[in-house]
Amino acid sequence: MKFFTQLKKSEIQGKTIILRVDFDVHDDDISYSLRVERALETIRFMRKMGARIVILSHRGRPDPILNKGNKKLSLRPFVKLLEKELKEEVIFIPDVLKGKDGISQSDKNIFLCENLRFYEGEQKNNKTFAKQLSLLGDVYVNDAFANSHRAHASMCAITSYLPSYVGPALEQEIHSLDRIIKKPQHPFVALVGGAKVSDKIELLDWFISHADTILTGGGVANTFLLWCGYSIGTSIHESITTIKKFISYPAIQIPRDTEVQKSAIFDIGPKTAAWYAQEISRAHTIVWNGPLGLTDIPRFQKGSRSVWRAILKRATTNPRAVVIIGGGETVSFIRKETKHIPHNVFLSAGGGALLTYISGTKLPALEALT
Ligand code: 3PG
Repeated sequence: MKFFTQLKKSEIQGKTIILRVDFDVHDDDISYSLRVERALETIRFMRKMGARIVILSHRGRPDPILNKGNKKLSLRPFVKLLEKELKEEVIFIPDVLKGKDGISQSDKNIFLCENLRFYEGEQKNNKTFAKQLSLLGDVYVNDAFANSHRAHASMCAITSYLPSYVGPALEQEIHSLDRIIKKPQHPFVALVGGAKVSDKIELLDWFISHADTILTGGGVANTFLLWCGYSIGTSIHESITTIKKFISYPAIQIPRDTEVQKSAIFDIGPKTAAWYAQEISRAHTIVWNGPLGLTDIPRFQKGSRSVWRAILKRATTNPRAVVIIGGGETVSFIRKETKHIPHNVFLSAGGGALLTYISGTKLPALEALT
């Protein structure tokens, strides 16, 4: 793989970079998103090197025929934010297929193209569409770790048409994740929460063979509780057959008490929170994916908050401890809780891509860069 950060200014100055980022964020989160923050860092770095930038991204899952131009999934609202943060004019390209001449003739330096998933070719990894995208610039940079598990035209096929590089944010993800995946230090504590355990089967498989303790919460824990014969009322859960194969592993821990409202579990209870914090206080490696309760509602944030405080304490008192936290909801909760994240805590911008990467499956967009 070739890394953008290894290029010299002279190799980049005056070039137009096609920068693939992941702006797949909700309206409420645009100005708060880690994905946007990382993209801004990359754009600033590229501008300092004297490059012009054409930003590509998808947003949501529109049907390219039925929802083409769906305003709710347009990338246009990002223009204002980019301009405010970058203090430069940003030109919006409403039709990526007609953008080439406008971009090459413009005296402006930053361009943002409309949602790529409005085009059929994107998700089909279509070569013709990729070739058309490649005409927008001289160099391609993938900085969209969160979408790198998708074999889409702007992630894979485009690399056949241009010199292609790993972007700075993607490099940071690979570097931070590899540190843990290749040689995790023990004790290794994993935390797995969120609504669906079926999305996390491969991740649990990996944790089973690498982590010492796997602490569960959210819908993931509910499904285990149900298997163990506890009544979970109307709590969110999935079929117990999804977790059958994990039952005999003693590393997997389930909550000892829970916060309940109207016969549904919405958070881990105080005893569990204290016990999880105790486990964290001894860990050298911590990986957390998925909130332990319903973090949208203040009353049910307590479990996640207490675990986060324990992680923060461990990371600051033991600088050799390494922490990875991923998943949109978990990361967004933490960013609202704490402004300054310690250097040994890495927040991953990946959702599905993170789960895929940790569990050892190759990501097609990274393969395309090799
Ligand atoms: C994500 O939000 O995880 C990425 O942007 C990928 O989105 P997708 O699951 O719709 O492909």
